[in-house]
Amino acid sequence: MLKPYYKDTKSVGTTPARSYYIPFSRADKKSYDREDSSRFTSLCGAWKITPYESVLDVPDDFYNNDGADDIAVPSCVQYYGYDYFQYTNDRFPFPYDPPRVPERNPAYHYSRYFDCKVGGEKTYIVFEGVDSCFYIFVNGKAVGYSQISHRISEFDITDYVKDGKNKLDVLVLKWNMGSYLEDQDKWRFTGIFRDVYLLRRPHNHITDYKIETRIHGADGIVAFINKSDVQVAVTFGGETQSVPARAQSEFTVKNARLWSAETPFLYDMVIQSDDEVIYNRVGIRVTEVKDGLYLFNGKPIKFYGVNRHDFHPEKGYAVSREDMLTDIKLMKSLNVNAVRTSHYPSSPLFYEMCDEYGLYVMSEADLESHGFVKSDGGYDWAMQAIPQDKNFEQSIVERSVCNVEEHKNFACVVMWSLGNESGWGANEKRALEAVVARDDRPVHYESIYPYVVGDEEYYNGSGLKTVSRMYSTPDWIVNEYLNDAKETRPFMLCEYAHAMGNGPGGLKEYWELFESTDRLMGGFVWEWADHGVKYGAGDGFKYGGDFGENLHDGNFCIDGIVSPDRQFKAGSLQMKYYYQPLKFKRADNKLTVTNKNFFGAQTGELVITQNGKAQKRGVCIPPRESVVLDLADGDATAQYYVGGAEVARAQFVSDKPRAKFVCEKIKTELCGHALIVTSGDNEYRLDVQSGEVESVRAGGAEYGRISLNVLRAPIDNDMYIRQKWDARYLKFAKPCARGYRVENDSVIFDIIVAADSLVPVIDATLTYSFCKSGVRVAIDYKVNDVTKFEFLPRIGWTLKLDRSYDKLKYNAYGDGETYSDMYEYAIKGEYECSVKDEYKHYVKPQESGSHYLPDYAEVSDGKRVVRVEGMTSFSALPYSTAQLENAAHDYELPERDGTYLSADYYMSGLGTNACGPLPFDGYVTPNAGADAICFYFGEKR
Ligand code: GAL
Ligand code: MG
Repeated sequence: MLKPYYKDTKSVGTTPARSYYIPFSRADKKSYDREDSSRFTSLCGAWKITPYESVLDVPDDFYNNDGADDIAVPSCVQYYGYDYFQYTNDRFPFPYDPPRVPERNPAYHYSRYFDCKVGGEKTYIVFEGVDSCFYIFVNGKAVGYSQISHRISEFDITDYVKDGKNKLDVLVLKWNMGSYLEDQDKWRFTGIFRDVYLLRRPHNHITDYKIETRIHGADGIVAFINKSDVQVAVTFGGETQSVPARAQSEFTVKNARLWSAETPFLYDMVIQSDDEVIYNRVGIRVTEVKDGLYLFNGKPIKFYGVNRHDFHPEKGYAVSREDMLTDIKLMKSLNVNAVRTSHYPSSPLFYEMCDEYGLYVMSEADLESHGFVKSDGGYDWAMQAIPQDKNFEQSIVERSVCNVEEHKNFACVVMWSLGNESGWGANEKRALEAVVARDDRPVHYESIYPYVVGDEEYYNGSGLKTVSRMYSTPDWIVNEYLNDAKETRPFMLCEYAHAMGNGPGGLKEYWELFESTDRLMGGFVWEWADHGVKYGAGDGFKYGGDFGENLHDGNFCIDGIVSPDRQFKAGSLQMKYYYQPLKFKRADNKLTVTNKNFFGAQTGELVITQNGKAQKRGVCIPPRESVVLDLADGDATAQYYVGGAEVARAQFVSDKPRAKFVCEKIKTELCGHALIVTSGDNEYRLDVQSGEVESVRAGGAEYGRISLNVLRAPIDNDMYIRQKWDARYLKFAKPCARGYRVENDSVIFDIIVAADSLVPVIDATLTYSFCKSGVRVAIDYKVNDVTKFEFLPRIGWTLKLDRSYDKLKYNAYGDGETYSDMYEYAIKGEYECSVKDEYKHYVKPQESGSHYLPDYAEVSDGKRVVRVEGMTSFSALPYSTAQLENAAHDYELPERDGTYLSADYYMSGLGTNACGPLPFDGYVTPNAGADAICFYFGEKR
């Protein structure tokens, strides 16, 4: 009978948690690639698997069989057709009945053979990640059991292996008692999802060590603490010291080159004992909270951060070293300098690469019990059984202990995090004590605040030296944190700028505030990548609910600043802009360019473009210093390149006066419901029922209705306000004319915009004036108070054209999509493109492709042109608002049936309201306004 270890939280037979390292033999050549060590044998690759519907179905002697089907390790079983795909955010995917584990508990018997050369040495087997728990058998004998999905589990299998062929059997269960502590917002996958390998080691080998660094004047001090029972020789900076068992020694580096994300300099350390060599790179740095500030190497740096999960659309959690490196390089290219390993530690290879490439890491323990707040069907942070429940104490503490012990020697780890959304109680306090007893890096934990905020415990007693929140508004940070006289600790947003869909909007307000005071440490965007799954029928990314799961959270997993396949979107570039290391300031004709970095010079090329001419200039700006450049009169664009890649940019543009509209005389004739207006070469039929232009005849061509448009296909961050729009039937609201008159060659309509059965949403006056080749529509509108929604999605006009109108030319913030609260990354200029490329393909279709502050936009079929001017925003899209709103997935968008040219008096900003604030004041469609938009129809010149 299988021992019911999974009904408890303790591992059995694992070696004590230790720092991550890979031993080499003396005969091996020096390398930082573990695959080069003769002491390392990867067990990744082809395994066999037998699935069991329930752990209760697993035969007692299952390990006498081989698995039936093929599976690759690492992987998630769901991608092999077992079990089912399920995405839930915070709700537990099993009944909330702690500490009981569901009896419906699928099990997977993995097996493989491996060769071993015992050679009088010890053999260990290491699993870097298994969800959720596993039993291990070697040659038919039970070795042990481990859980905590993201810990490194190591077993001494010396007594189980023999020379030659050996058999390994691993039984992985979907759930264990610790699953109550792994309720992170993620797909609920199962399997051996990280690497497995053997280590062959001498009998007396080092078991653990700790490297600590300090700065003393210009010198760096590197302490080596031998935490094992053998003596080792440590070589550092050309000096070798012998460090006895359980002793420590120090190295001094004169004029040390310090490690930082900007200057990721690593020194080599070589640790030897017996026939074993460990190559450990060392970054000298100090991370601390001092005098109320967070200081890195003594400087109040900022975290330009992102939250990162392990996720790959075709592999789930099983991300490879290359996948991680791709993420790191993309992050660096977006000026990210910090990563929170939400909400569990990453693979050790990830930390290794953060050391090497330069990223600050907040290493988070594998802990989240979020679901308890929803366990009675409501949402209540007060229900906090688990943080207090003695049954979970050992595991909550162990999760932090593993996090610290495994990653303590990585320079990139600047902070520990106790976990995410797990409440605050005796268990978290014990975990904090365990961390503080092991390491002096600052500790982060956000989930304390619902409990003790305002109490003495909160300010002084918790032991947490940093304050953290998620999604707070800039106003909140000012009013509740900066103005809190009792608060003495530095502040960060461990999550902000919920990057779901088209967005995030509002980064400017956060970064102006963060940069205004050293007390604010910056923040981590939620989150790095969309978790869109590619599996099964259909060619596209799927999300919660697409696999028939009852309990799921829909597309809430599609909330990354990059797409599932790591493509950038406008929001990625907007983040890059606010994360850029240079600050540009123009005063008259002087441009001051400041290096915001504290440690690294900016050496690259500045390209200043004015009046169509680009001037290049090499610069080297020391940290925190500036260069001042002369500019000519007029608009200017500055772009900064390093090694050919753009790193930073700024643009200084002034508003252009609008082109003059010269009114023509008109003739009118009422014909049924149409008032026919003839002016210049054109004829317009104004629909006196609605007040809209029903059709236009110009230059021998016919154009259709110019419809009043107050909608947008809701963006994900409209998820709450759209409920108000829907409740007021905004979708069904139509313009209805109350009357019209012809006055001084203008036609004036009084209209309402209203849905059947409800009072009008809008009262407006439309004034049509006509010029030789076009019509101007002035609006003066007011949103009816009783509608009670904060703001309209937009107000403007949409003209549907034939799909042959595919050529777009415009002058606006482009060429990416831009909105009032997400445009600074873009360059205002003239662009030519194809309408079919104007829609940006989000996993779930939504409003996209708008351009902010256009001077004009023109769409053409090659022969004829429709030109719009005067709007604050426009789009020319291959899909209608309704087509975008009605498609649940990108791959469900219909065949293109036209070109939809929209010109908006106002288009609301994006905000980040799926978790954070609505668009800030000033960025939304005002509830009253007046403006004019002109449409011109003509031959292409
Ligand atoms: C936060 C949580 C994240 C994620 C986010 C919503 O509350 O910490 O894990 O769920 O909300 O996308
Ligand atoms: Mg959560």
